[in-house]
Amino acid sequence: MKKTIRDFDLTDKKVIIRCDFNVPIKDGEIVDDNRIVQSLLTINYAIDQGARVILMSHLGRIKEEEDKAKNSLEVIVPRLSNYLGTDVKFSHATRGPELENLINSLGQGDVLLMENTRFEDVPGKKESGNDEELGAYWASLGDIFINDAFGTAHRAHASNVGIASHLPSGLGFLVEKEVNALSVLVDPVHPFVVILGGSKVSDKIGVIENLVKKADKILIGGGMAYTFLKAKGINIGKSILDEENIGFCQKVLSEYPDKIVLPVDNLVTEEYSNDVPYHTCDVENIGENEMGLDIGEKTVELFSSILDTAKIVFWNGPLGVYEFSNFTKGTERLLDKLVNINATTILGGGDIVAASAELGYKDKVTHASTGGGVTLEFMEGKELPGVVSISDK
Ligand code: 3PG
Repeated sequence: MKKTIRDFDLTDKKVIIRCDFNVPIKDGEIVDDNRIVQSLLTINYAIDQGARVILMSHLGRIKEEEDKAKNSLEVIVPRLSNYLGTDVKFSHATRGPELENLINSLGQGDVLLMENTRFEDVPGKKESGNDEELGAYWASLGDIFINDAFGTAHRAHASNVGIASHLPSGLGFLVEKEVNALSVLVDPVHPFVVILGGSKVSDKIGVIENLVKKADKILIGGGMAYTFLKAKGINIGKSILDEENIGFCQKVLSEYPDKIVLPVDNLVTEEYSNDVPYHTCDVENIGENEMGLDIGEKTVELFSSILDTAKIVFWNGPLGVYEFSNFTKGTERLLDKLVNINATTILGGGDIVAASAELGYKDKVTHASTGGGVTLEFMEGKELPGVVSISDK
């Protein structure tokens, strides 16, 4: 059993809380703040206990100096201050006097957010490479470390594993809630139905290999369905193809012919655009110049009939090109079905959770995870370094 935030007396302590504020940002605006909202329980608890709260998170991926400007965590400050009802201080520095002075000025219940931990990736990949000196330095700034960044728990970085190896540590409420909610997927009741969307088969190979053994049915939509259709010898026209993984799809289809369920019809266009004519056709009739961008009505019916039998459903990835309003229908229809069946329903992955929030279904499922890649790794049965590194009770 891992320690949790409840196992510590936080009063007057400098408490470093690793959150996952890696939220989608467009034109400088937060598009979906679910991860911020889900972190509030732990932060508010620390404030109420009289902690001096130091928040850390990454945002995006920082490969070169130029990536820093558009990935500053400062964009989070107004939203976080508003939700917490307190002025969150911000350190532009990830080390040195500015950061240390701000930490020393914190009173009980005050909150400081440090700049993007991945700014330490340039130069030297110190954060992502779990640099020993960096983890030890950040740990030296606090008394207790709480990991509440579930979305990042599959990474072994300086700001989670590194700090945890130098301080008494515990899990935050969000990580606790996520691990509990997702644990039903480790040894699921049956029928267990999985819905997988998204564009690339390569992103899902591990999870397919693991789930195909556990699941009763895997319903495949989104761009990745076309590689499976191609593997069956169907002409997919200009639809997205993950050429390197056709062989993998053929293998899975031949080993588990009754488990993998593919679309039977789809919405096709001649260009990857929302502004061109589209029509529905069976997948066998995709034209040479056409590409499929959403599942069709017959597929919605087919997938719905399988959902009717399910006891647990896990869904990762939209079933169409969700950015284009003409191609959201399949995802919307299936979400509507999902919340009307008698089953435990779990959404994992930023895109499907954001879609469910936008369409008004997020609060109607059993659990909408804040995790993307981590949810898939958890389901693959992999250990999560961000959790394993936390002190045992
Ligand atoms: C995520 O969004 O999945 C997490 O924040 C981890 O981000 P990463 O894939 O860039 O490590």
